[in-house]
Amino acid sequence: MRIVLTLAALVLSAAVATQAQAPAPQMAETVFKNVQMLKGIPVDEFMDTMGMFAAALGYDCSSCHSKEIASNREAFAVATPLIQRARGMIAMTANLNRMYFAGQPRVSCFTCHRAKPLPENVPNLALQYGALVEDPNAMEIIPSRTTSVDEIFNRFMQAVGGAQRAAALTSYTATGTYGGFNTGGGDVPIEIFARAPNQRAAVVRMPDGEAVKTFDGREAWAAEGWRPLPLLPLTGGNLAGARLDAIVQFPAAIRPAFAQWRVSSVIVNDEPVDVLQGANPGELPVNFYFDEDGLLVRTVRWNRTSVGTVPTQVDYSDYREVAGVKLPFRTVVTWTDGQNTIVLKDVRPNVTIDAGRFARPAPFQRRAIRN
Ligand code: HEC
Ligand code: HEC
Repeated sequence: MRIVLTLAALVLSAAVATQAQAPAPQMAETVFKNVQMLKGIPVDEFMDTMGMFAAALGYDCSSCHSKEIASNREAFAVATPLIQRARGMIAMTANLNRMYFAGQPRVSCFTCHRAKPLPENVPNLALQYGALVEDPNAMEIIPSRTTSVDEIFNRFMQAVGGAQRAAALTSYTATGTYGGFNTGGGDVPIEIFARAPNQRAAVVRMPDGEAVKTFDGREAWAAEGWRPLPLLPLTGGNLAGARLDAIVQFPAAIRPAFAQWRVSSVIVNDEPVDVLQGANPGELPVNFYFDEDGLLVRTVRWNRTSVGTVPTQVDYSDYREVAGVKLPFRTVVTWTDGQNTIVLKDVRPNVTIDAGRFARPAPFQRRAIRN
């Protein structure tokens, strides 16, 4: 009963907020009940700080939070001993950066914890004498001298069917399935609307309502039942991420979307992979990974939060031709809060899509589930 009332209240407050033009994103402390440290940041960034905590300590949400959260969202506000401990750690990490790193975000929870609740403090000889393991997802890349940005992009264009055909693909709609952490592992129907160079909308038909995510070329919104608000504006790296999801739908749109490109190469699953890193002023870069056939197999992007930077990895596979252009029919998104798989079944190229599709969606409306 209490949950139902709370959700109704949330939906109501969001409906009021959407009446104004482009409402400013709400800050964490106005949406949540018991925010003491992570104030003054938008709700989507706040959720990414929780992802940092889970990723850095190898914990899930219920490791720190009360067990009540399984049935009651309000229980996230309950201060457990580990929540109190984590608050102390937030202050400590901020102090380290302020006092010893000139305010630069050099130390994060991960710097010490490395996916463990209790950091190691005795050196590990196996690490010292073992083979060096490079992280292919690192943001720092080592520039390649044997290949060039032009070469990788030319190979990519050839691999997808040629620059001319790629440029002729200007829109599509697709149906398929979506599954992962927020569907309990099962698959539910998804519909995707895409318009070049950078508009995208996805509608996931969840049992409790339609979860909609849009990017109109400038702003991104999530009206999804698993979010803390029925209509969540995406900000910072999440907004750049929504833009990226829109751009990668059209092979010809990728290169013009970034002001600067650098090239590197790494090993992924024992295979050599070319990496192009795209950068725009004032934003974190994005890594693009190309396999031996020249196809895009992965992107890695980042979002900067007040407790450190968190990654999102997207893997693309099962390329099939659509209007003569190879598109990935399988996409796996992995980030600090979960993993999702989108599988396309049917793609219709070059269709007319109403501009309203990509605009700010209506807040998520929960419908009663019968069981
Ligand atoms: C390492 C411990 C830790 C983990 C793991 C963790 N949290 Fe938190 N969470 C906190 C702390 C600490 C706060 C309070 C932050 C503050 O006071 O600014 C908090 C606050 C919250 C709040 C605000 C509650 C309110 O109403 O005030 C939500 C919602 C939340 N967490 C969700 C999550 C989710 C979802 C996950 C899993 C992805 C998660 N947390 C994982 C430590 C954790
Ligand atoms: C400078 C290193 C360092 C950083 C940075 C750091 N921690 Fe810790 N943290 C520790 C150490 C060391 C311990 C274990 C202390 C002990 O043995 O009791 C610990 C313990 C914890 C615990 C208790 C775990 C348990 O299961 O008992 C939590 C929760 C925690 N840290 C959260 C965080 C969060 C959240 C951040 C980022 C905001 C963070 N830590 C950043 C060093 C660090």
